[in-house]
Amino acid sequence: MKDPIKGFSKLSKAAKLEWLVTNNFEDADAARSVLTGYWHDDETLQKRHDEFIENTMSNYYMPYGVAPNFQINGKLYTIPMAIEESSVVAAAAKSASFWMERGGFKAEVMGTQKIGHVHFMYTGDASALKDEFDVLEEDLRAATAELTSNMEARGGGITSIKLVDATDRLDDYYQLEVTFETCDSMGANFINSNLEEMAKCLQTFAQNHERLDANALEVVMRILSNYTPNCLVRASVSCKIEELASEGVSAEEFARKFKRAIAIANAEPYRATTHNKGIMNGIDAVIIATGNDFRAVEAACHTHAARSGSYKSLTGCAVENGIFTFWIEIPLALGVVGGLTKLHPLVVKSLEMLGNPDAEELMGIVAVSGLAQNFAALRALVTTGIQKGHMKMHLMNILTQLEATPEEKIHIATYFKDKVPHHREVVNYFCELRGVPVPKVGQ
Ligand code: HMG
Repeated sequence: MKDPIKGFSKLSKAAKLEWLVTNNFEDADAARSVLTGYWHDDETLQKRHDEFIENTMSNYYMPYGVAPNFQINGKLYTIPMAIEESSVVAAAAKSASFWMERGGFKAEVMGTQKIGHVHFMYTGDASALKDEFDVLEEDLRAATAELTSNMEARGGGITSIKLVDATDRLDDYYQLEVTFETCDSMGANFINSNLEEMAKCLQTFAQNHERLDANALEVVMRILSNYTPNCLVRASVSCKIEELASEGVSAEEFARKFKRAIAIANAEPYRATTHNKGIMNGIDAVIIATGNDFRAVEAACHTHAARSGSYKSLTGCAVENGIFTFWIEIPLALGVVGGLTKLHPLVVKSLEMLGNPDAEELMGIVAVSGLAQNFAALRALVTTGIQKGHMKMHLMNILTQLEATPEEKIHIATYFKDKVPHHREVVNYFCELRGVPVPKVGQ
């Protein structure tokens, strides 16, 4: 049993590290050596990373890859991707090249509105609340005027305020539902600050209006929603069906099976979950590389996938009049200013690599990366199967685990060039090559 510790957050980094390694590891020196081994040599840079979060002990490296040849709305991009899973970057790059030769991707932003709520309970006469709402709205706008002035100067601000009667979902439950335009920022702090100000204003309003009962009003929460159905982007590709022949499968069969694969994801949540996981492989990798909030994007995309009441595919496909069209439509609340965007040196470089896009352009790039990823996965699934390409990319991880030498790696990669490198077969071949016995399962 470990001893609990009080006041840990107040300790110095060195003291935290000592407590951590001596109380949580069998070999404190080995643990210290790994944790400090990932510290940056440049102390200023390390301090910056330390300050991103709390109780920072080390840096957790993720591979940072790039996928070239993405043609989007006629412009060529190299897309940065931070992800630990092998084959994702290769799949993105392969799809990018495939579609570059067929006219490239199209991306269109359909809306950029974000949303937030003051969630409150009201047990008084609701008709008075509704009757007085116009006056309340004026007060809410006046109360937030100072907070919104800079955003308004950039073309954004509060776009609407509504009173929502949600008592059909929960007794006495109402909302102030507020929509925002946050321009190039994701806007979380801006939205939450405004909502907190509005909540105060609502309480004061109830105290000052005789038809309202301040004692009957309780503000429960004021917070943005990460579901942003009106901050929506669509990306698509299309080509003649005959341009789709792939991996020994005829173009017609490919198009038919591909469309059916999406129909299956729409009909079966077990499959939809994996289908959308593959899409998020691409989306999360770009979101992380560009310093955006992947948890917010994940949550929004999954809510969107379930908007019909059943969890479905985020992508769609049509095969009509000899044309194959494949698209994705997703909510993406992204920022290119604020957050880590100017603080993390790799995020700065990611945005520069993309030509310093504004938030709308980045929405298009991210949606395309999800679409490209899904195309690669479905293409493999309806032709060769996923393991061939995935294991080909994963082979190096297996060989590194086996502590293969560079020469052995080349030899074994050549041997498996035209074969699926299943884990056991790689281990067997490696042992045969070294002339050592194959370890028993579990060894
Ligand atoms: P391939 O045809 O064997 O590759 O595909 P290739 O060696 O012929 O090269 C073709 C192109 O692929 C290259 O062009 C690269 O663009 C890319 P080039 O650069 O030579 O002009 N490529 C690479 N890029 C960087 N490094 C590499 C590399 N190799 C190829 N080493 C490939 C191999 C893996 C691309 C293909 O089989 C594929 O796309 N497979 C799908 C892989 C995939 O979807 N992985 C995601 C992880 S699996 C998963 O989690 C999701 C899933 O469950 C979702 C679902 O079920 O829907 C599948």
